[in-house]
Amino acid sequence: MSKVRKISSHKILNSRGDWTIETEVTLEDGSVGVQAVPEGASKGENEAIGLPADKAVEIVETVIADALSGEEASEQEALDEVLIQMDGTPNKSHLGGNSIMSVSLAVSKACAVSKGLELYEYLNLLYSGRIVDGDKLKFPTPVFNILNGGKHARNHLSFQEFMVIPSRSINFEKALEIGDKVYHTLEENLVAQGSQTGVGDEGGFAPEGFTAAKALSEIRKAAKQNFTVGKDLFFGMDAAAESFYKNGKYCIEEEALELDRVNMFEYYKALQTEYELVYLEDPFYEKDIEGWKMANKEFSKKMMVVADDLVVTNSGFLENVIKNELANAVIVKPNQVGTLSETLRFIKKAQEAGMSIVISHRSGETGEDTFIADLAVAVGADFLKAGAPVRGERVVKYNRVLEILNETH
Ligand code: PGA
Ligand code: ZN
Repeated sequence: MSKVRKISSHKILNSRGDWTIETEVTLEDGSVGVQAVPEGASKGENEAIGLPADKAVEIVETVIADALSGEEASEQEALDEVLIQMDGTPNKSHLGGNSIMSVSLAVSKACAVSKGLELYEYLNLLYSGRIVDGDKLKFPTPVFNILNGGKHARNHLSFQEFMVIPSRSINFEKALEIGDKVYHTLEENLVAQGSQTGVGDEGGFAPEGFTAAKALSEIRKAAKQNFTVGKDLFFGMDAAAESFYKNGKYCIEEEALELDRVNMFEYYKALQTEYELVYLEDPFYEKDIEGWKMANKEFSKKMMVVADDLVVTNSGFLENVIKNELANAVIVKPNQVGTLSETLRFIKKAQEAGMSIVISHRSGETGEDTFIADLAVAVGADFLKAGAPVRGERVVKYNRVLEILNETH
């Protein structure tokens, strides 16, 4: 294989107009891998810390470049271990989760180029030790966040994401068609009723004056105009409950509600029954473990109870979630933990525990980055969450999966 020759980095703007970094790793055989870093707005408390872009660039080009130059690039685990050891903190706050992630992922891209493989093939090799034949690949089901609130919108809707999820049995291309059709139907309906059609950070509409029930009923109405609910598609929510948890209460201001854990649970139960939700992410604040237990016990037979802020792509936290039966599905965001190796170990552990895998973007994304699309295909993830079927930085992920599908089928 080939050794690392050069690592350079620079600042770029992300989809929210915030500075992030993009790192380029060049191998001795001339192969190049480039990786930009996304950023969340509703972050878990235990996520890897991103340093300011200028500082992160400096760290990549000095400390990290010095340590990894001349090292064998195909030894992904060994390189990641060097980064983890050099950082030496539980949340990558010394070298920065963003500096580390950009290098770790860029190395894998350079190696794929060097070996003449597609990125998903190389990731597949890293993940399972062999490359799965194209016609045997498992494609993720897209999860479309088509109505935004919480920290992703400037409206007054407490809950962060309302989603349309095509049936698992529908192929990826048809699933994209379904998400796109529901999105545009919803848009027409919002216009007809005089609601705003401005969008939030992930491309979903962000109308004013909506409650969770109103959001779900509008989505259901739009869905029913062309599809059969329960057959073609289903609904889900990412509450991102941390963002409306204040002083021990869940404060849903648009309904003037201050709910304790049990009432919050009852609130979700009513929504689940009415809208037959199949997906509920971060229903409780990450430290409200009793809430999580309650949710998973009641809902896990009916739907996916999805841990995001609760696990932050970290195997240590995942162990706790498995042991205490807090969720039956997990979000995977490489920048929550920092290195590719840790991300792959997390996915393996969750899959072995029988959990569903949801590979996810962040609310602040970059226009060309499609790493998560290749990752989702490489590990046989159940779902890919990349926002609404609009806006360049969102559709580029969906389009990359489509490209892989077309190339292999
Ligand atoms: P974030 O939100 O990228 O702003 O953290 C995404 C999510 O909560 O799933
Ligand atoms: Zn989330």
